[in-house]
Amino acid sequence: MSSTLNLTASKHAAQHGKVDLSKMPKMMEMSATSITEQVLAINNANCSDERMKFVFERLVQHLHDFVRETFITTEEWVTAIKFLTEAGQTSTDHGQESVMLLGILGVPALIDTMNNAKPPKATEAAVLGPFFIDDAHDLAHGDSIASEGKGEYMYVHGKVADTKGNPVANALINAWEADETGSYDAQYEVRDGPECRGRLRTNKDGKYAFRAVVPVSYPVPAEGTVGKLLDTLGRHPFRPAHLHLRVEAPGYEKLITQLYINGDPYLTSDTAFGVKSSLIVDLKPVNDPKLSAKRGFGNPDKVHMELERDIILATPEEGAAARKKLHEDMLKSMKTGLKR
Ligand SMILES: [Fe+2]
Repeated sequence: MSSTLNLTASKHAAQHGKVDLSKMPKMMEMSATSITEQVLAINNANCSDERMKFVFERLVQHLHDFVRETFITTEEWVTAIKFLTEAGQTSTDHGQESVMLLGILGVPALIDTMNNAKPPKATEAAVLGPFFIDDAHDLAHGDSIASEGKGEYMYVHGKVADTKGNPVANALINAWEADETGSYDAQYEVRDGPECRGRLRTNKDGKYAFRAVVPVSYPVPAEGTVGKLLDTLGRHPFRPAHLHLRVEAPGYEKLITQLYINGDPYLTSDTAFGVKSSLIVDLKPVNDPKLSAKRGFGNPDKVHMELERDIILATPEEGAAARKKLHEDMLKSMKTGLKR
């Protein structure tokens, strides 16, 4: 009997290749607390990747603590599994529902905030979002990213500079936004070409200018599983009005950010958690037909809004120092002393 068992065990060991059973933990009494130690011991026994071991050690510890703290019921667990399965099988024009689920829980915003932390003087970053595409209009200084009739007129201008105030010439700026209906060009069934998106370069003084439309707040798709969750939590699906920007120049870190319009009702409850107060901008109405005509608006008699904003880029060294400090500060506040 025992030799049959040994034979079976060695056959399975051969199937598992590098798994060395001799490194596995000794018999442990399984309980609602000791199971964590058991999982960690088995995970770590044969894994040679230190980062993987660390990440999974923390993941298992937090997951188990969450289950213990909430005393999750079997019914709740089954509901959660069904929900995750459904989210994983559904996609919308915003992408996978599973990605959106993490988004409404603030996970991508947190990861982005950590990995794109900037020094105090530089413009802060925000998530890229699902609607950046390379196919965009190439603009000259002052051109429009939007066709006539896509929304209220807006004139965007400013300077790209470094943290010491030196202008950054020839920086490449990508700008994109939703039209007045709150939809990006990529969301339409038929997309004839780029709309409400364009790229341009700063001039020798680091200045940039383009025409656009006043952004509007829009909801993320709320018909699916994530929408039901938002509803259960008593949350709305809206993102506050914003203009997306991506700015890049040799010698500087690429900046991906969003500018949010002051006064938007969803500024403090963005469903994607992108808003940082330093990224909120005021729009100024311009009721000056001569200036409107000079700026190239189709109907100069219409009031246009002006958005003036300088963009400050960090060097890779400044960015790295900011992220190192952020990580140290976070660890201190967590009082764990953990290293990544
Ligand atoms: Fe957006």
